[in-house]
Amino acid sequence: MTPLRIAVTGAAGQIGYSLLFRLAAGGLGDRPIELRLLEITPALKALEGVVMELQDGAFPLLAGVETGDDPRALFDGVDLALLVGARPRGADMTRGDLLEANGAIFRAQGEALGAVAADDVRVLATGNPANTNAYIAAAHAPDIPRDRFAALTRLDHNRAVAQLAAKTGAAVSDISRVAIWGNHSATQYPDLTHALVGDRPALEVVGDAAWVERDFIPTVANRGTAVIEARGSSSAASAASATVDAARDWLGRTAEGDWTSMAVVSDGSYGVPEGLVSSFPVTTRDGDWAIVPGLEIDDFSRARIDASAAELAAEAEQVRALGLV
Ligand code: NAI
Repeated sequence: MTPLRIAVTGAAGQIGYSLLFRLAAGGLGDRPIELRLLEITPALKALEGVVMELQDGAFPLLAGVETGDDPRALFDGVDLALLVGARPRGADMTRGDLLEANGAIFRAQGEALGAVAADDVRVLATGNPANTNAYIAAAHAPDIPRDRFAALTRLDHNRAVAQLAAKTGAAVSDISRVAIWGNHSATQYPDLTHALVGDRPALEVVGDAAWVERDFIPTVANRGTAVIEARGSSSAASAASATVDAARDWLGRTAEGDWTSMAVVSDGSYGVPEGLVSSFPVTTRDGDWAIVPGLEIDDFSRARIDASAAELAAEAEQVRALGLV
């Protein structure tokens, strides 16, 4: 079996430190993998240490590791690109500064992917602002179909599943059809209106209408901040785990009768303006995805979806104004 060639950016970072070992241990299945690890020049030394540890894991599926600071060299022929590396928001940075700094990174990486990646490449942005980073990368790789770019909202999805499981006492595996809509930000809309616990509607099992708006939505949307407050640094292992989940499902398939959440290029579904990279409930199959059609959207959901889409539209506008697309 030829190895799956996987690029990981920001490989010496916190998420990278979990992600690489999950990938090497077979997180995407039993196909051998080859890792192409991209970092900025000052982090290459640290990356060397991570590579030593990967070697020390003696992973049977790990067919090779390359490292470097040049995306054009490292992305050559890759089948999957996990874009994790990003510029963190400094204390004195506005959101505009953040978009600008990351825009430059994701433009260069989009161009490199367009130039040298495999024809079947799939690109998943985890680095924040993830949706807009995916939007920028896609804009600079015109030869790669836009549906090959996605941004990670699987961590939000997993958080929502876990909160619902905790509230209802159900097993995580009994929960299905949870959805995250919109931006991977505080405006995201974690939606339980179609969710099931076993074969019963989740909202009926919860039996507490106020809980959704008062507890569930803010807990999921602000979970990243809660982890930082408790741990002293941001969620990395759970983000790595969600990145593996998302990539595995994208290249594989969602369970029969269920869906996942992934930020993908909108086709205008559910009133989300075409072209924005927004989270939707999606089913996946062998590298393709489809937005789940025909869900009924109540007024509460409508307002939340629209608010998050408006934030994405504003980010896209800002990126255009900065000349990043
Ligand atoms: P980190 O700061 O520990 O690591 C980031 C790494 O990226 C650093 O090693 C840095 O040198 C590298 N990097 C920066 N610019 C790069 C470039 N141009 N090319 C290659 N590498 C580059 O951060 P951490 O905790 O690993 O998080 C990474 C990103 O993931 C952050 O943007 C964070 O906000 C985001 N994140 C996203 C989540 C999601 O659900 N979508 C959840 C948690 C984090």
